Amino acid sequence: MSEYRLEVLFTPGDIESAVARLAREINRDYRDKNPLLLGVLKGCFVFMADLVRALDMPLETEFVSLSSYGPGRTQSTGTIEVIQGLRKPVRGRHVVVVEDIVDTGTTVDFTIRYLRRRRPASVRVCALFDKSSRRRVDVPIDYRGFKVPDCFLVGYGLDYDERFRYFPGLYCLKKDV
Ligand code: PRP
Repeated sequence: MSEYRLEVLFTPGDIESAVARLAREINRDYRDKNPLLLGVLKGCFVFMADLVRALDMPLETEFVSLSSYGPGRTQSTGTIEVIQGLRKPVRGRHVVVVEDIVDTGTTVDFTIRYLRRRRPASVRVCALFDKSSRRRVDVPIDYRGFKVPDCFLVGYGLDYDERFRYFPGLYCLKKDV
């Protein structure tokens, strides 16, 4: 049976600094706009929780649940499944999409189109991790935490078959053969 090894890419301290910087940028741009932070579950939940607590202004939160990686997969399937859609209108709202990672860009592209049909005042994207080398769809990232290498990433909300999401840093999962 194969074993896995986790190599640290970012410590919890590295991530905390990046979240604080992103929060400063969002505070600067959205003060007095009562933005709606829209988390894309499940991966966003750790980042979203830290980000909203670092923001210092009135805001609201909402979530959609989308999935592009099926169980046991290490590659995006390229097809998005809406598991839980929006439960309140976004018409006229300033929406910030909160993503843990942008990989091929399929999920963010889908999310932006999904939102625009509902007539928000504006849509921007905040992603903690950007795996730009794997991009298939060109998507805007207005607030970016880190550029990350093309390895299988886990921790800080990211999983491998639902494992490791709760780990506090970001790790590269290596398979020992
Ligand atoms: C991950 C991640 C992003 C998406 C990025 O979600 O949370 O939403 O993949 O990949 P893409 O840029 O290639 O679309 P996943 O589908 O694994 O679901 P999860 O958040 O429930 O783990």
